[in-house]
Amino acid sequence: MSGNQRLLVKNAKQLVLICSNGEKFLNKDGMKSLSVIENGSVVIGRDGLIKSVGPAETISAQYPESSFDRVIDATDMCVLPGLVDAHTHPVWAGDRVHEFSMKLAGASYMDVHRAGGGIHFTVEHTRAAAASELLDALTCRLWRMLRAGTTLVECKSGYGLELQTEVKMLEVIEAARRSLPVNISSTYCGAHAVPKGRTEEEATADILQVQLPRLKELMSAGSLQVDNIDVFCERGVFGLSSAHRILQAGRDMGLNINFHGDELHPMNSAQMGAELGALAISHLEEVTDEGIVAMATAKTAAILLPTTAYILRLPQPRARDMLDAGVIVALGSDFNPNAFCCSMPIVMHLACVNMRMTMSEALAAATINAAYALGRQRTHGSLEVDKHGDLLILNCCR
Ligand code: NIG
Ligand code: FE
Repeated sequence: MSGNQRLLVKNAKQLVLICSNGEKFLNKDGMKSLSVIENGSVVIGRDGLIKSVGPAETISAQYPESSFDRVIDATDMCVLPGLVDAHTHPVWAGDRVHEFSMKLAGASYMDVHRAGGGIHFTVEHTRAAAASELLDALTCRLWRMLRAGTTLVECKSGYGLELQTEVKMLEVIEAARRSLPVNISSTYCGAHAVPKGRTEEEATADILQVQLPRLKELMSAGSLQVDNIDVFCERGVFGLSSAHRILQAGRDMGLNINFHGDELHPMNSAQMGAELGALAISHLEEVTDEGIVAMATAKTAAILLPTTAYILRLPQPRARDMLDAGVIVALGSDFNPNAFCCSMPIVMHLACVNMRMTMSEALAAATINAAYALGRQRTHGSLEVDKHGDLLILNCCR
């Protein structure tokens, strides 16, 4: 209560806290009834952190309105924490709309990939692009995400597949982190595909012996902040044993393990990730029962991506089985040149309609659980004291 505060948002019809007891994540019944205050107010301090949340009359008794730089009257409105997008590939050049018509004509994702398109097409264009061009495109995309309510977003590299371009992508992400009003969790995904002309073994050796050691140097020098390590663990891309070696090496450098697994074929990625202590595994369209149990036991979050199943006409991820087993389910847009969706509200909608999640499950998955999947649950994902004051104020009655 000492000194002036930056912002009071008062009298919200619903102040949706998500949770209110410092929960790291929500699962099972915890996702069914989220913490909501009817007619609530929230106070944000000059440091951008939440100072107080509670019933409007309690807050008004504690703080004179004259002590705020700004007051927003949220009468009849709904206030939520900023949404968290736990999986995106937003740095790239080159349009792949021609592949959409190939897929509409019957080609599968892997047909296009094997024919040298897909990730390979984007790699060629991203290698050739200047960092400034990539940053301009990334800036547009991140603003689009912000306008749709995302305030913390995971951003991957992975369209370089060699040191120079992977570092260029991570530097572009770093520049966006420093210049834009969005929080970023950055991910090294040098093992997104095996580069043309190389074998899986050669690509793995390059990552282990060239790329990761250089990243370690850049991180120690403070010129790059990298939070997570990712691998596309898939038949015809990186198999289980290469993925294991790369993820383990990343973990040993202090990165969080957060990777693509069990997407197109059952690979036992879920079991491997759980055993390695992965914070999260994405996709999981082909996860097995054993994989689900392993993830629930290890508290490895499942980042489900409803846009992928939609656009590639894949089987839907088994969200209900995972939720019933107690897996920590999070959501991501998977924004990439193949799945052009910047909107977490659309992702939540698809999660409800196609994956049969309830609305409160989808909201928990797009806030506190997505924050957990990025190791940011202490600062994001709910409206609780000392977390970031990232708010969505929704005028949903009009
Ligand atoms: O998550 N599956 C691998 N990676 C992306 C697709 C990236 C691309 O096609 O460019 C995904 O869907
Ligand atoms: Fe992806």
